[in-house]
Amino acid sequence: MERTEVLVSAEEMERQRVFAEQVHVLPHRPKSYHVVTYGCQMNAHDSEKIAGMLEAMGMVSAPRREDADFVIFNTCCVRENAERRALGNVTWLKEVRKEKPEMLIGVCGCMIQEPGMAEKILKQYKFIDLAFGTANLHKLPEMMYDLLNGGERIVQVEDKDVISEGLPIRRLRHDAAYVTIMYGCDNFCSYCIVPYVRGRERSRDPEQILREAEGLLESGVKEIMLLGQNVNSYGKGLPGDITFAKLLKRLDDSGIPRIRFMTSHPKDLSDELIDVMAGGKHILPQFHLPVQSGNDEILRKMNRHYTREQYLDRVRRLREAIPGIGLSTDIIVGFPGETEEQFADTMSLIDEVQYDSAFTFIYSPRTGTKAAGMPGMIPDEEATNRIKRLIDLQEGLQQETMKRFIGMEEEILVEGLSRRSKLAVSGKGKHGISITVSGNAEDIGTILRCRVNGLKNNTLIGERET
Ligand code: 5AD
Ligand code: SF4
Repeated sequence: MERTEVLVSAEEMERQRVFAEQVHVLPHRPKSYHVVTYGCQMNAHDSEKIAGMLEAMGMVSAPRREDADFVIFNTCCVRENAERRALGNVTWLKEVRKEKPEMLIGVCGCMIQEPGMAEKILKQYKFIDLAFGTANLHKLPEMMYDLLNGGERIVQVEDKDVISEGLPIRRLRHDAAYVTIMYGCDNFCSYCIVPYVRGRERSRDPEQILREAEGLLESGVKEIMLLGQNVNSYGKGLPGDITFAKLLKRLDDSGIPRIRFMTSHPKDLSDELIDVMAGGKHILPQFHLPVQSGNDEILRKMNRHYTREQYLDRVRRLREAIPGIGLSTDIIVGFPGETEEQFADTMSLIDEVQYDSAFTFIYSPRTGTKAAGMPGMIPDEEATNRIKRLIDLQEGLQQETMKRFIGMEEEILVEGLSRRSKLAVSGKGKHGISITVSGNAEDIGTILRCRVNGLKNNTLIGERET
């Protein structure tokens, strides 16, 4: 796909900036906003852009949704329960609005992009004032302007793949920041709706990414998290020979103290990337590598393009090159037709790899995906039983894997006061695991060196060295 097709023009971005200024001077504009976010980091970052645009329109953040003049739900549709929760909460707000009739309600994000959803909102959810899909995000100022001037509800969904550069961003943290490097996904794992709602894979210009990262460094950011559905295939379709490994190397040289990224696809995890990580100065020794299943037949039906052995080979290479690396994964249980023996392969893989953490999900059929038409749906009771066994196994293993940090030097980026003690602070170590050390509010946002000397209730305890 031609880049000019995907990049929103500078003129269009300027037009939207002017719309934001025009909303700012409208006397009847909403004065406060609240963004409710569901789903992944991508959505969390989109919410920061929504907040940035709303602030450019003169609105201030309201801590509670029921107090805001404009409430917007940024939705997820990866699993059915995320969708049900979002729709339930939107409907609840309709009741709240009876006491506050001037409140405006908006809904955006992946769920809106599902086939038939726009019609459903138009017919069944008449109380929603504004609904727009992921491709229309940058047009929020214009939509808000039209809504406030015309009074008609607006539903805008387009099936387009766009990249918009230069949106205002209201970041949730000052010390750590998300940086999107690519959008969309071309993998079409058979259970996954993401390629349908987030569109085709497209990568941001590396110079734009570097400029953003340098700006963040100047503003005092200590850690960046590079985001994409499949960061390992970054660069596809861009001019030159840029790869994710090369981008990472350039970012490593730019001096940002800590660099993380997610998500990686095992089939695209190159030796080049592992070597760059191993030789990096600022790339954190942690890796999120979703396996989804430990059984070859299920992996084939999932359209994952790797076998259990090939996955284990990647894990071995990572551990050889980066000893002690923090490893996490995603797993789906109850994929259509999954037998007890096939599930046992997932259990044995977990046992073999010894992850530091695992995100586990019960398979949820998504309309339009290939797996939704596959026979052999696993009954709820059986799927719940499997996920419980998996979680139990992982929790037991985690108690052991965490012990390897005891005695180790670590560095944490302090996120906040510890929940258990007023005299302690906690944050993530370089390997991605939470560590608690003595400290106070002044330490928040700084990097502290410590030596890990204990493990309590699944949290590592460290002794401060700085
Ligand atoms: N059902 C259950 N889990 C899913 N995931 C994606 N689609 C589905 C689905 N239909 C999980 C995968 C993915 C994570 C983000 O969500 O494990 O890695
Ligand atoms: Fe979904 Fe697979 Fe793409 Fe991940 S790689 S977003 S699971 S289709």
